[in-house]
Amino acid sequence: MYLGIDLGTSGLRALLVEEQGRVIAAAEAHYAVQNRHAGWSEQDPADWITAAEKSIQALRNQHPKHFSAVRGIGLSGHMHGAVLLDATGEVLRPCILWNDTRAAKEAAALDSIPEMRALSGNIVFPGFTAPKVQWVQTHEPEIFAKIAKVLLPKDFLRFWLTGDYVGDMSDSAGTSWLDVEKRVWSEELLSLSGMTKQQMPRLVEGSENSGHLRAKLQKDWGIQQPVLVAGGGGDNAVAACGVGCFNEGDGFVSLGTSGVLLAAKDSYAPNPTSAVHTFCHAIPNTWYQMGVTLAAADCLSWLSRQTGQSPETLDAALPDTPEGPASVTFLPYLSGERTPHNSASIRGALFGLDIADSPAVLTQAVMEGVACSLADCLHALESTGTKLERLLAIGGGTQSVFWVKTLANILNLPIAVPLKGEFGAALGAARLAIIAAHPNASISSVLAQPEIRETIDPDPRYTKAYADALVYYRSLYPKLNRTKP
Ligand code: XUL
Repeated sequence: MYLGIDLGTSGLRALLVEEQGRVIAAAEAHYAVQNRHAGWSEQDPADWITAAEKSIQALRNQHPKHFSAVRGIGLSGHMHGAVLLDATGEVLRPCILWNDTRAAKEAAALDSIPEMRALSGNIVFPGFTAPKVQWVQTHEPEIFAKIAKVLLPKDFLRFWLTGDYVGDMSDSAGTSWLDVEKRVWSEELLSLSGMTKQQMPRLVEGSENSGHLRAKLQKDWGIQQPVLVAGGGGDNAVAACGVGCFNEGDGFVSLGTSGVLLAAKDSYAPNPTSAVHTFCHAIPNTWYQMGVTLAAADCLSWLSRQTGQSPETLDAALPDTPEGPASVTFLPYLSGERTPHNSASIRGALFGLDIADSPAVLTQAVMEGVACSLADCLHALESTGTKLERLLAIGGGTQSVFWVKTLANILNLPIAVPLKGEFGAALGAARLAIIAAHPNASISSVLAQPEIRETIDPDPRYTKAYADALVYYRSLYPKLNRTKP
């Protein structure tokens, strides 16, 4: 038996998986994001441990026999967060999350140093780890002075599980401190942001063993055999493992809180000027590229809060098939944007509102706006030479058939929708633990692709209409004022 744990932004999901990959049970526990000031987004790492304890307890209660047979744990987590620990392993302040934009100034300053992009392969985005720690240096110097270790969120869970400070390549690639090509901490990148290698955890590959479950937890959980903990990875790399996306040409589009368009790469091919992210994959000698739009399903949640209708109700008011673009255009920059604009200060807009417009028009506009932003991500990936002929669709937003059809129309690519089931980051995490326990296993059979329910092709009747809508969408960005007069 294997346990996959995905530390998400809104909650933690734990999955009990058999060695052959069949899912036995799942449990979830939720926690909040604190927004103490505009642009801030934080969590208390203690809440993650509570959520892990609760979900593990639930799995143990439901399946005591299966749980006691666990021999490996895999981890996935939201990326870029900075968990700052003192010399005794105590947490120094709340974790600053991936969607926190307070470090925009620090990010721009670091990004202007040529070595940062050259060695890390990426723009230093405000959400990445290095600028956040620099923000702490300036605004909370007494805390900065006490930092003995910086861990990424899921590596803090590992610290609780094993007592060891260990990170993996895919998650560490999002810190701006990793030499993403060589897969090692870069002393140069670290020193450019006032950090040292001693403050970093030891690194392993995502599919490697990183250590073992502490004896106390092993006993408390009623497990006799040693339990390994695999390296795991950042949620996007691990979700890619969940859907078997690790060979060149494989790609997925994800409609989660954020939106992601990801392509697996068998070589390191960075292109920071396009605002594409180039990170190590969770499998040795593989990388991936992705474009990230900061608010995807988050935009629909926003509309749901404003209209008092759930996202499902909003979606249900739409027809089965889109009949051309909406009359209203939505720019989805509610939390700033990464790809392609790299702007923490930009904000969204609705253009072309009519007095007769209903929530259904706004829902369609929101879905199209997010799809246009993902088309910008696709364009950015293609500008690096990446070729994708089909994408898998994953994430909560893909429950909406209308949204997936809109994606197919605007990306002008076939979109494969998996059969309902478990194939997200928690499954990817369990799969990495299975590989760590069987280093000679065939990676492609452990990381199998999900069964496809249907493949949605772009609607040829509207190719030109959606292409024109995309051109119009792109023309509006320069009209957005970054700061109010
Ligand atoms: C990736 C990113 C997000 C988070 C969300 O760079 O910031 O996808 O990992 O969990």
